[in-house]
Amino acid sequence: MGRSVAVVCPKGGVGKTTVAVNLAAALADKGFKCLVVGVDPQCGVISSFGQERFSVDFGLLDFFDPDGSPARSIHPTGINNLDFITSNVWSRDEEEQLLTWAAISPESLAEGLAPVKREYDFIMLDCPPNLGPLTTSALMAADSLVVPLQVEELAFQALPRLFDAMDEMREGDQPLPELAGIVLNQVDLRTRMANSVAQRVREAYPGKVFETQVPRSIRLAEVAQRGKPVNMFNRAGVASQAFAALADELLASIITEKRPEERRAAPMDDFRENAFTEAISTVSKPSPILTATGEILLNEDESDGNGKSKNGEDEIISLDEVDENNSDTCRVTRPNLDEYDGGIEEGWH
Ligand SMILES: Nc1ncnc2c1ncn2[C@@H]1O[C@H](COP(=O)(O)OP(=O)(O)OP(=O)(O)O)[C@@H](O)[C@H]1O
Ligand SMILES: [Mg+2]
Repeated sequence: MGRSVAVVCPKGGVGKTTVAVNLAAALADKGFKCLVVGVDPQCGVISSFGQERFSVDFGLLDFFDPDGSPARSIHPTGINNLDFITSNVWSRDEEEQLLTWAAISPESLAEGLAPVKREYDFIMLDCPPNLGPLTTSALMAADSLVVPLQVEELAFQALPRLFDAMDEMREGDQPLPELAGIVLNQVDLRTRMANSVAQRVREAYPGKVFETQVPRSIRLAEVAQRGKPVNMFNRAGVASQAFAALADELLASIITEKRPEERRAAPMDDFRENAFTEAISTVSKPSPILTATGEILLNEDESDGNGKSKNGEDEIISLDEVDENNSDTCRVTRPNLDEYDGGIEEGWH
């Protein structure tokens, strides 16, 4: 049974679509079958997969339209293990209709996706930048939340609004998704603001911020223009590596959830932080470290012959030295998520 993950933050431009698309692509690259759902009339998902918005007849609206066809709304991206559903509203009237229907029956998205969950390991729900009816629908359809945050002051302030909205849902007896983690995005630790905001977020939400930080990278800004997730055109670059590491962390959190004996062994308050950190350290690859001077530290495990260390020593490269690499995506057989035990390292790359 697949896991649905809402990529949510009630602040615009923090990287929700970027994270939904590229994290799904990183998981697909590891063999997990993924579906990206654009729960946002802006339709950013479709351009990330290089498709023409007017060529799509069925999509998000079909989940809320009483006469819609949700089953026909899934489209292939042309990338192995990766499909998408886009919003299919092309006028203001249609958008208003979508929002009205979503406000009347926010559960429709969860209901429409329920049969699809058997087909996928991960369903990524790309939310709009507000806490309106579409975000509510996505939260109702989600098992977990991933919250991207652009490392700047205003984005940080958006978090309490999200958690307040979750509290309101909790009061209404609504089953709530678990916070898988906050992703610090567009990180450029050369700036003092990024350093201090990143530190404050980690202090305010201990154990709930992914270790992996997504660096500011021109390659990510190019995703919509090229119509491909970053690992399809710059596989060796820092952005692709960050999303591969983030995918490992997400998978590690799933293993953690599956260890009930550990949950019982530790007090609940300590559990999440400790077990999560432990699972990450044993399962995930080390992520690129962006140093205070803006250099990227990569170690031997991450080297792939594209200008990085092969001699076992850490090597320092600068962002500008990361070359394009058009090598094909590595194909692997689809792992069974239900039996997944963290054995992701061998044979993946
Ligand atoms: N790490 C990054 N490095 C460089 N550019 C980035 C990065 N993350 C996102 N961007 C760019 O920032 C812009 C906003 O990102 P994105 O569309 O993913 O945000 P969003 O939260 O989905 O926005 P919205 O709230 O409008 O839906 C895009 O142009 C995207 O290419
Ligand atoms: Mg978006």
